[in-house]
Order: sequence, then C-alpha cells, then structure tokens
Amino acid sequence: MTRRGIILAGGAGTRLHPLTLAVSKQLLPVYDKPMIYYPLSVLMLAGARKILIITTPEDRPAFQRLLGDGAGLGLELSYIEQFKPNGLPEAYVLGEDFLAGEPSLMVLGDNIFFGHLFAQTLQKVARQKRGATVFGYQVSDPERYGVMEFDAAGRVVGIAEKPKKPKSHIVVTGLYVFDGRASEFARTLKPSARGETEITHLIQRYLDAGELEVERMGRGLAWLDTGTHDSMVQASEFVRAIEARQGLKIGCVEEVAYRMGYIEAAELRELAAARPNSPYYRYLGDLADDPEAAAARPASA
Ligand code: TTP
Repeated sequence: MTRRGIILAGGAGTRLHPLTLAVSKQLLPVYDKPMIYYPLSVLMLAGARKILIITTPEDRPAFQRLLGDGAGLGLELSYIEQFKPNGLPEAYVLGEDFLAGEPSLMVLGDNIFFGHLFAQTLQKVARQKRGATVFGYQVSDPERYGVMEFDAAGRVVGIAEKPKKPKSHIVVTGLYVFDGRASEFARTLKPSARGETEITHLIQRYLDAGELEVERMGRGLAWLDTGTHDSMVQASEFVRAIEARQGLKIGCVEEVAYRMGYIEAAELRELAAARPNSPYYRYLGDLADDPEAAAARPASA
C-alpha cells in the first residue's frame, strides 16, 4: 500500500488576483474550510500517512500554522518550497528524498474530488507497485487540459497537453499515482514552449513503456475546478448544498482521520471544546458521539 503522498500547493494563482496577492490559492475558503483540506482528505482516504506539502517560500509558514506536523490528524506532514512554478513534474524532483524510491500519490492542491465509491477506488490504486495510474474525466472544455486519445478498443494511446483540436472529451485530472521511478524520469524532462515541464510528458514515459493505467471517473463523481473566481464560488456552492442536504461534510480532514482510525473520539471532543463558536468544530463533537460512526471504524484502530 502506498503510504506516501504529495500535495502540490505552490503556483502563482494569477487568474485569482487580487485574491492571491497576499494569500496562497490553496488556503482560500471553499465554503467552510481551506481549499487544501479537500486534496489532503483525498490522500488520507487513499491510506497515505506520510505527506509532503509543496508550497511557495512565502506561503509555507501559513500552511504550517494551519496543519503543523500533522500529528493531530495521525499524519506525518513535511514541507518543501518550490521557488517558481516550474511545472508539476518538479514535485518529484523536489520530493526525491521524501519519496525514497517508493510509489506515491500526488494531488494538486486546488483539486476537489467527491463521489460515490471514490475512497474504494483510491485504496485500490494505492496498492499498485509498478507503473502509473491517471484518472480520466469527461469535461465539456477538454482543450484546457491534458486530453486522452483512445484506440478502437478503448485503450489510451496518447495524451496531448491543451490541444487546439482535442481527440476526446476525456482529460487527465490532478491526481496521479507513479511508481518509484517518477523522480528519475522527472529529472530528464525539458520545459515545453510555455517554460514549464509538463506532467503529460511524465505520463507519456509510462505510456510508452506500456505501464500506464487509466481509471475512468464516471458521472457519479464530481471533479471541481477552483482556478477562477466563478469556479471558486461554484465549488463553494456545491459543497454547501451537499453538506446541508446530508448533514455530512466533504473534505473534513479530522473526520477522515477519525473514520480511518488515525485519531480517537477524545481528540475530536477536545477540538470541539476548544472552538465552541464554530459549527465546523461542533460537527466534530457530534461525530465523536455518533455510535454508528464509531462502529464503522476499522477494527485495528
Ligand atoms: P495551475 O492552475 O496551472 O497554476 P496556478 O494555481 O498558479 O494558477 P494560475 O493559472 O491562475 O496562475 O496549477 C495547478 C496546481 O498546481 C495549483 O494548485 C498550483 C500547483 N502548481 C505548483 O504548485 N507548482 C507548479 O509548478 C505548477 C505549474 C502548479
């Protein structure tokens, strides 16, 4: 089982200016919690407990204030700075020591996933030891993303970065599983015309070697964008609607830690007692008293 995960939370967030002039995009709110909680909960659901957060040098202290060393979530968090947004594959170069040649999951710090059976899918791909897995998702505007090309048998045969004439509507999401060779491959990549190394080129290495798996995410799964002012509000509205309807939270990292068996009910009660004014923390207090949630926790917890 892959125990290591990376959250890439650097970047300039230029499309969100002036929101991101003083604050990292991944710390901005998506309804009731900071954006980074959503990708962090994805890695946690996959079973990753050693997690590297890559930030800009300016924003690192704020991320550390928010999440610390991760002990409160039963995690080992570490932080590395990326000085310039040189491209997504740089995460594997910066994270080489952290990864120690092991397979890992990476999620982009501004990606939100939510849906039926997603945790099971994550746990399945996290068991992969060799090769790479990417997640394909149908979108109406593929030209903005890495677009997959399929043969008649439905096998992926190519991936094109932001093509003018997309060969399908299935694009690569910001969640990647690579084996222990990712750092070695990432180091050999050259920047593209836009001056960044491209994750599609890293994926291509695995495709060329016949070692790429594609997991298709169906319409029952939401993959939300948060890169623009409108998409940020839409993501907040989506989370608010689901949370209000179900009375359950999306991307609540303390809840995930409790349900995965990483922290105990007493820790949830402490959090709730320390911040009585916030409904977010009251939710954690209620969760601690819920016998159904307690019964569903792993036996080994
Ligand atoms: P982008 O959306 O490509 O870039 P951005 O977030 O800086 O936004 P903008 O286009 O508005 O300037 O990045 C996707 C995610 O990856 C986002 O969470 C930032 C992160 N990222 C890095 O941390 N380092 C990088 O080198 C790049 C390219 C992105």
